[in-house]
Amino acid sequence: MWFMRQAGRSLPEYRRVRADVPMLEACARPDMIVEITMQPVRRYGVDAAIYFSDIVVPLRAIGVGIDIKAGVGPVVEQPIRDADGVGQLRDLEPDDVWYVTEAVGELVGELGERPLIGFAGGPFTLASYLIEGGPSKNHERTKAMMYGQPELWHRLMRRLSVITAEFLRVQVAAGASAVQLFDSWAGALSAADYRESVLPHASWIFDQLANLDVPRIHFGVGTGELLPSLSEAGADVVGVDWRVPLGEAAQRVRRGTALQGNLDPATLFAPEEVVNERARGILTQGRAAEGHVFNLGHGVLPDTDPDALARLTDFVHEETARG
Ligand code: CP3
Repeated sequence: MWFMRQAGRSLPEYRRVRADVPMLEACARPDMIVEITMQPVRRYGVDAAIYFSDIVVPLRAIGVGIDIKAGVGPVVEQPIRDADGVGQLRDLEPDDVWYVTEAVGELVGELGERPLIGFAGGPFTLASYLIEGGPSKNHERTKAMMYGQPELWHRLMRRLSVITAEFLRVQVAAGASAVQLFDSWAGALSAADYRESVLPHASWIFDQLANLDVPRIHFGVGTGELLPSLSEAGADVVGVDWRVPLGEAAQRVRRGTALQGNLDPATLFAPEEVVNERARGILTQGRAAEGHVFNLGHGVLPDTDPDALARLTDFVHEETARG
């Protein structure tokens, strides 16, 4: 078990180390990456660490003018909406992200047997930030390109896939023992549009990682209708949000695919008995799958009480030890 967004604003020790350091600067400093990645491991004793970074880090590393505004999210100086914009997305070289290699190496030493999960943003989610210029509710400009300029869209997706696969490869080469592709906003698409416009690129990314011999996790939010496609892209584990019970999700993925999830992160604001009852339900449902990684259905919400996560971690560990 681990929690998406387990490192970050819900932790007072995170807010302390980040007080005077902008987000993307923290993501480029090995000392900060190591400290922040370890914070939730120390506090909760979760079974895995997730590398502290952000999905926009590889884009910034190749020179895209992108920043993370507190309370807003990623903001792009010059949104990419034409062939010139796409042409500016060069390949990522390992040297562009030297701090990743350094931080992952140190983390693997510190974590010992505990796995470090590397990650990257999925191609639809990255494309949406680049095209919209920031967070978007309806992804209208993104869909306009996807529907109206499919050739340009696929060229953009191919560029993003090359960058993403390399970014993940660097993390695994440095010692990460699993990777997760966060295509968080893919659930904004119909299954048919996902299949035509995103699936070939997600598949390509997973193919590139196949020979690295690490488990590959594929996750998105609101993806009930897309679970068969997320699975078809080639992941070993499919992350499920809280809307689809795991027993049902198990029917929607390929045989042999493990599931990850899926406690509604808002549950942690309810009384402990409720959290435990729901967590127990998820562990039971998870037995329908070929393997189950306990997690939330999306990231930890910023106002979550860290003690509630600590209690949940203990509860899941006790329940699973009992078998
Ligand atoms: O513990 C972990 O899971 C590792 C850290 C992590 C961050 N971002 C750190 C972060 C991970 C896995 C991400 C991925 C990420 N970033 C996603 C995919 C996962 C998801 O949540 O769906 C997305 C869509 C982003 C883009 C992004 N970055 C958003 C929407 C925001 C929130 C903006 C805000 O302030 O409300 C960020 C910023 C961000 N990424 C923070 C952290 C800890 C907060 C920045 C801060 O502390 O100032």
